[in-house]
Amino acid sequence: MKDVYILAIETSCDETSIAIVKNGRECIEMVTSTQISTHKKYGGVVPEIASRMHTEMITFVYEELMNKVKDINIDAVAVTYSPGLMGSLLVGVEAAKAIAYTLNKPLIAVNHMAGHIYANKLTNDITYPLLALVVSGGHTDLLIMKDDYEFELLGSTLDDAIGEAYDKVAKVLNLPYPGGPEIEKIAKNGVSSYKLNTPMNNDTYNFSYSGLKSNIINIVHNEKQKGNDINKPDIAASFQEVAVDQIVRKVRLALINTNSKEFLIAGGVSANQYLRENLTNLCNELNVNINVPDFKYCTDNAAMIGAAAFPLYQQKKFSNLNLNARSNEEIY
Ligand code: KG4
Ligand code: ZN
Repeated sequence: MKDVYILAIETSCDETSIAIVKNGRECIEMVTSTQISTHKKYGGVVPEIASRMHTEMITFVYEELMNKVKDINIDAVAVTYSPGLMGSLLVGVEAAKAIAYTLNKPLIAVNHMAGHIYANKLTNDITYPLLALVVSGGHTDLLIMKDDYEFELLGSTLDDAIGEAYDKVAKVLNLPYPGGPEIEKIAKNGVSSYKLNTPMNNDTYNFSYSGLKSNIINIVHNEKQKGNDINKPDIAASFQEVAVDQIVRKVRLALINTNSKEFLIAGGVSANQYLRENLTNLCNELNVNINVPDFKYCTDNAAMIGAAAFPLYQQKKFSNLNLNARSNEEIY
């Protein structure tokens, strides 16, 4: 079979990223311009600034990539069209349409969350059926995948996503954005000594993170009012233990009840070493094969969009030049 090269664009949040992916499995080249240092000043992503910076950077990122891969013939152009920040998504979608039109190649609309899941294919051989855990800044989902693009939702967060909780707890501890990696870093020097409530102690596949977040915020405020020092590493370790324990409990329930033998994790929070270790231990105990994406493909990147576009290319699921961005379209 002839090799297929997909040019993929990701601009849904604060990374302007373009990659070329071969056969949905191999990232040939990727160029990413991150806006993190700009948004850090504001403690989070400012949508208006994000879209403006994508507009400024996208041509440079494209040119830099194309200079690196002069001899490759592109077969299709893929782009994240949903979910994400509307202004940011639009920059990627319009760029993808222009490139597809100019090269006279098909356009493929890719869902960002499918991208996170398919990031695993850049590292591992995936076999179906499988249980997928998506943990990011906007999602905490458990899904069954029977085959490519056959997603069935088992459960989801009822309020905040786990990544959002990491970011908000980091903010109340005055740690820089994005908070997830910062919490993970300082938790390594802490002990889980703060008493926290156990959320979602039930037999559903749903999650909740807003109570845990408020629990932490209240402890920090109470200690401050009493004039006590806050032990940040201990708070971070206490939070992380409860946050990850909830994931492990729900994944255990889902693996056993669905009799799954394949499991994958996806999304920015899947970069968390403590989460990976706990889920790996669980899978070893239950004799389940666990797939984890390479660290560089956990957070937002264009290679994962190229990987997720490949099955759509094979099924000839192409979009026309009327493609529009959508702020919140789910995969299930
Ligand atoms: O998947 P992603 O890059 O963007 C979304 O689609 O949301 O995920 C970003 C989220 C942020 O909340 C960030 O704090 C979190 O992933 N994150 C982490 C880690 N690395 C990124 N959370 C915990 N531990 C990490 N090492
Ligand atoms: Zn993402």
